[in-house]
Amino acid sequence: LPDASLFQYPRQAYETALKNCGSVIGVYRKNRLEYIVDNSHTLQVLTNDAVFSAEQGTAAILNMPFLTALPRSLIGTLDKVVNKGVTPKIEKLLVKLEPIFQRYMFGLAAQADGANKPVPVELVHSVHEAMAESMLLLIIGAVCQDKELVAAAIEVANDIATVTGIFQNIGYWSRTFPTTWRVFTWIRMMIFTIPWTFRKIACSVWKDLKRARQTGNTNHIDPDCVVHWLVKDNGHIPSFTECIWIVCFTLGIIFASVHQTSAVIVWVFYELAVKREYLPALRKELSSILETDPDTGKPVLTYASLRNAEQLDSFIREVMRMKGDTIVVVRLTTKDVPLGRYVIPKGSLITPLATLSNENVEYWGEDAIKFIGDRWVGTDKTAASISASYWPFGLGRFACPGRFLAIAEIKLMVLTLISRVDIFMEGGKYEIVDPLNTVSVPPHGQLLISPLEKPFL
Ligand code: HEM
Repeated sequence: LPDASLFQYPRQAYETALKNCGSVIGVYRKNRLEYIVDNSHTLQVLTNDAVFSAEQGTAAILNMPFLTALPRSLIGTLDKVVNKGVTPKIEKLLVKLEPIFQRYMFGLAAQADGANKPVPVELVHSVHEAMAESMLLLIIGAVCQDKELVAAAIEVANDIATVTGIFQNIGYWSRTFPTTWRVFTWIRMMIFTIPWTFRKIACSVWKDLKRARQTGNTNHIDPDCVVHWLVKDNGHIPSFTECIWIVCFTLGIIFASVHQTSAVIVWVFYELAVKREYLPALRKELSSILETDPDTGKPVLTYASLRNAEQLDSFIREVMRMKGDTIVVVRLTTKDVPLGRYVIPKGSLITPLATLSNENVEYWGEDAIKFIGDRWVGTDKTAASISASYWPFGLGRFACPGRFLAIAEIKLMVLTLISRVDIFMEGGKYEIVDPLNTVSVPPHGQLLISPLEKPFL
């Protein structure tokens, strides 16, 4: 497929090729041969771990093949940390995250105070800051009010996104000389930029670990944070090398959580600002799900109330289904695998085309290509419930373990802002920057806000 059509109209290019050539196609993208399959192979490719490796696929697509050669599985451990150390505490964590999200969203809302026409605001930056601060709280504990640490977390997430090629589709040099760009960026980022930006966070974690090694206990570490869980899971006070591992895991979780969630939050806000007809129903829902803080008597959003936000959940699911994702997750074949009319050689990158699941009339009915914000209300299909027909969080053993937290965070951020202001897009639209990577690259646009007469929160 020619680069021009692949980068500008990836969905049409892949879909047409699959229609014309059968259920499996091989396509060169950025000097790498990738196999793209249609929805008839989705379940098998994403869940048959014996021959389609999620870990090796993720490592290869992130331009970090060395990950699979490490003595411990980084991706497997991250999965375990989030599943066992984060998700079971989600209720408690959200109580801690709510004030952070409120501070940032109310800060944005305050910019429209007294304005008589909609005011432009820097949504993307505030979303990144709120996400970075909240994830630092979750990962390293209560010390995260430090602005420099928050800035470092944003930079780290962005730097890793760059090294992993997430922005590679956008730049002229990265598209024209992909291999040279990959090598050059990898060296620049891994040797210079990432160690420099990550040092502040690493030092903070290291200080906690060093004290644990000196005192033999973890009483000084926030018991709800990931670092505490990692030390406890280790079974004993970590050795020097185990401390290095723990520092690496914090890096991995910051990347996995901050960047992707921020991108989806921006998508949801922009879609909502364009499809403003859904706002009244969401505010009505907000007033019905609010709970009362027993200490202050003020209205609050808890995990339970967020779970009851069915209208918003449905809207988020519809945004994730319809934003045009093409390549979402990748697997690597661990042996020659027969598939359709072909045999895919060992060591190949392979991925199903997401649009063929997301907008498939066989799965979702004749109006599958229509955006219906409340389509999922009253069904058992939530934004986080994945299947072979909806998998923005991946599928199988390695599906995203952070998806429940991510959806709760998106809801919290959206409801907090729209509880105080009305939102609009300048010109009534936004621009998709990278149609080949709608997963990690948020759209561009200018969000405008104006104050509500009567705030809900
Ligand atoms: C809307 C936000 C998010 C999206 C769209 C997203 C999406 C994904 C996807 C597609 C995968 C690969 C799954 C596969 O290969 O089948 C993944 C893996 C992962 N995600 Fe998320 N994610 C999000 C938020 C988060 C958050 C908030 C966390 C942490 C709290 C997280 C932690 C992870 C981890 C640790 C992995 C690797 C685990 C593994 O492959 O087993 N993610 N995510």
